[in-house]
Amino acid sequence: MKILPSIYHSTDGGKTLFREDLDETYHSRHGAIAESLHVFIKEGLNFYLDQNPKKELFILEIGFGTGLNAMLSLLEANAKNIGINYSSLETIPLPYSLVKQLDYQAHWGIEREINFEHIHACDWNVEQAINSNFVLTKIEQGLEDYKPNEQFDLLFFDAFAPDKQPELWELSVFEKLFNATKKGGVLVTYSSKGDVRRSLQKAGFEVEKIAGPPRKRHMLRAIKR
Ligand SMILES: C[S@@+](CC[C@H](N)C(=O)[O-])C[C@H]1O[C@@H](n2cnc3c(N)ncnc32)[C@H](O)[C@@H]1O
Repeated sequence: MKILPSIYHSTDGGKTLFREDLDETYHSRHGAIAESLHVFIKEGLNFYLDQNPKKELFILEIGFGTGLNAMLSLLEANAKNIGINYSSLETIPLPYSLVKQLDYQAHWGIEREINFEHIHACDWNVEQAINSNFVLTKIEQGLEDYKPNEQFDLLFFDAFAPDKQPELWELSVFEKLFNATKKGGVLVTYSSKGDVRRSLQKAGFEVEKIAGPPRKRHMLRAIKR
């Protein structure tokens, strides 16, 4: 029987999920939305678009989780009127009934919740148009088994922490992801660990340690030159 994660109350008054077996939260303990907006939207998506103004881009996420990064990307695609093709890997899909309890709707409003509901309700392993700006493919597969057959502009590396799931942060994994990144493409992750930075560099990325989300000094951004 699969044990569902429980609700965790973050220090900013918001919520995330908690995996008791790993002693690990799905987002920063200081705020899920603030972390996702900073690491993946501001320093990932918006950084990439500033350097590479494009009308359509391809994103690969490692760790779909609550779908928060996917939904924030959809909102950004709407706001900028661009097309995002978003693929996301996950081994433990969560029910919308649980994710709804995180009240992320307070951030985007009731009229947008229909998109979030659709993101959760749509089938796995098939491409789904959520709206005219956002096409989603949720892939029920572990990163270790995933064999990319395309290249992405942007990679959101949002696996559980390196000390919890070390096998996902190994050099061989980053080499696979480097090959799956377009020239000029960007990988962002909340982790700023030295080992992670060195593995990303060995895989071929140019890596910058930049300011992190609230109450976290740093994060990493890796670019394929
Ligand atoms: C830090 S959470 C991701 C949070 C998520 N991006 C969000 O917006 O809510 C890590 C996620 O990675 C998933 N995961 C665990 N093992 C995985 C694997 N081998 N490959 C891909 N994802 C995995 C977990 O189930 C969890 O949902």
